[in-house]
Amino acid sequence: MIPKLPSAIGLSILRSVATLGLLLVAPVIAIAQVDRQHTSPCAQCHTEALLQPATNMARALDTVEQSRVLIDHPLLSANNGKYSYRIERKGDQSIYSVTDGTTTVSMPIRWALGASSAIGQTFILEKDGELFESRMSWFRELNGLGPTLGAAGSVPADVHEAAGRLMSHDDKLACFGCHATNAAHGSQLTLDKMIPGVQCSHCHEETEGHLASMLRRRGEPVIPPALSKVSAEQTSNFCGRCHRTWAEIAMQGNPSIANIRFQPYRLTESKCYDPDDARISCVSCHNPHQEVSAQPVDYDPKCHACHGGGKVGAKACPVAKNNCVTCHMPKIELPGGHYKFSDHRIRIVKPNEPYPG
Ligand code: HEC
Ligand code: HEC
Ligand code: HEC
Ligand code: HEC
Ligand code: HEC
Ligand code: HEC
Ligand code: HEC
Repeated sequence: MIPKLPSAIGLSILRSVATLGLLLVAPVIAIAQVDRQHTSPCAQCHTEALLQPATNMARALDTVEQSRVLIDHPLLSANNGKYSYRIERKGDQSIYSVTDGTTTVSMPIRWALGASSAIGQTFILEKDGELFESRMSWFRELNGLGPTLGAAGSVPADVHEAAGRLMSHDDKLACFGCHATNAAHGSQLTLDKMIPGVQCSHCHEETEGHLASMLRRRGEPVIPPALSKVSAEQTSNFCGRCHRTWAEIAMQGNPSIANIRFQPYRLTESKCYDPDDARISCVSCHNPHQEVSAQPVDYDPKCHACHGGGKVGAKACPVAKNNCVTCHMPKIELPGGHYKFSDHRIRIVKPNEPYPG
């Protein structure tokens, strides 16, 4: 994915990161003074906090005021079946409406899910205190609206259903729970305390106590448990809390192309996978604090770590010496998803073979 940072905030993060990059060798005090406004309080001491705020994961939920998709497209419109849709910008708000020619339903958008810079955005609408998931979403590949994944197959009964799907309490917990931080406390929804996106404290424990104890510089320091000292399997399950675990997908049965987006499942199905070998863990290829690299060559050392003679049974390739992922992790279109996901089931791809679910 090509990271784009078009917003003013994004640009200033980029600028401050660029400046910070130069200052990395300078004393931490200097780093803290560069740009307090857009850097995380953790950045004084941890380089992880410099680039993380600009990742798609950290920006997996947008407020309506800040959604680049909504700001850059002041009028979006599309037809789907007998329904016509419009999303119109009014000041810093956006109104979503649908009509069947006779009846029109309009609702303000409350949040946009999915990073503006990534695959697409689905909108959360509000009416009479209820939240709805929009039936139409914006997709980068279309540069416009298309049916929300999962909604494409069904025909809405009326104009209300055509607008969106009423979200249950559990839907809200799950949806905001994966795309934002502090959105839920147990089974209680805490949208008033919600921080958009996946932030440090969503993955690391005890961060507040840690920050306070570090700044106090007195008493016993609180140190969050390290996440680096875990197995490939534990990391898969950890990331799988949101990217779905192998068990979750395996339990659904009926394997199909729909599981292409569930990397922990796909990777576990690969012959390369070894639950105890950290070289095949998610964080071996992805630093969760940085934007994903779209350069195939960047992944070669990861493959070579085992296939370069480092692991019994991992042979060398008879065909090529680099850009391994271009052939062995093919990009496959998710039907209705308007995006080609990289298949994490690393394998020899045979011409015309059916998708190995
Ligand atoms: C004033 C400096 C300072 C600040 C600010 C700070 N930390 Fe730390 N952090 C430390 C130190 C020192 C350690 C202990 C490092 C060690 O034991 O190797 C640590 C350890 C950690 C660890 C565990 C690292 C490991 O290897 O065990 C995590 C995770 C962490 N901090 C996250 C955060 C987060 C998130 C924030 C912001 C909310 C933050 N820190 C703010 C200084 C700081
Ligand atoms: C709290 C939920 C959550 C956890 C835990 C989580 N992710 Fe994510 N991740 C997301 C969401 C949501 C997105 C979609 C971002 C977007 O809108 O495009 C995402 C996107 C990504 C992307 C794609 C980024 C891009 O450039 O588009 C990568 C890579 C990724 N996650 C890796 C990881 C790894 C590795 C872990 C485990 C260390 C992990 N994630 C844990 C929620 C999570
Ligand atoms: C179990 C965690 C989880 C839940 C629940 C969840 N998401 Fe996501 N979502 C993700 C992850 C991880 C990604 C990134 C990988 C991907 O694209 O599949 C993502 C990606 C997206 C995207 C980017 C486009 C796309 O299809 O990849 C949109 C839009 C989105 N989610 C909307 C929603 C909405 C709306 C809800 C609730 C109705 C929701 N998500 C519920 C984890 C979750
Ligand atoms: C999506 C989950 C996720 C988010 C969000 C996240 N981290 Fe991490 N972090 C991890 C994982 C997983 C590791 C272990 C990486 C490895 O082994 O290479 C890690 C490692 C670290 C470490 C090294 C010590 C350790 O725990 O192993 C520090 C320090 C740290 N993170 C700080 C931060 C800060 C500061 C933020 C917010 C700006 C942040 N992290 C956001 C998942 C996350
Ligand atoms: C051997 C290397 C490797 C490992 C291990 C790995 N990935 Fe990936 N991942 C990739 C490559 C290559 C891409 C495609 C990057 C690109 O072209 O944008 C990718 C892309 C992604 C994306 C973005 C969606 C897409 O397909 O473009 C997500 C999310 C992701 N990985 C999550 C994970 C998770 C979660 C794990 C652990 C279960 C994991 N990855 C393990 C190599 C790896
Ligand atoms: C943790 C070590 C490890 C890593 C990292 C790893 N592999 Fe493997 N891989 C193996 C092992 C071991 C086998 C042989 C397993 C078997 O045949 O039972 C294998 C098998 C394969 C196969 C043959 C699969 C088949 O369908 O017969 C291919 C192709 C492959 N790996 C490519 C890659 C690529 C490309 C990467 C990097 C993106 C990679 N591997 C990363 C250990 C690894
Ligand atoms: C241009 C596409 C291409 C690229 C790039 C590529 N491979 Fe392959 N690879 C293949 C094909 C095709 C086969 C099957 C060859 C056969 O069966 O004769 C293969 C076979 C393999 C095998 C199985 C070997 C065996 O003897 O069973 C492994 C392991 C492997 N590749 C790893 C890698 C690694 C690691 C890289 C990067 C250094 C890589 N490949 C780059 C196409 C590619």
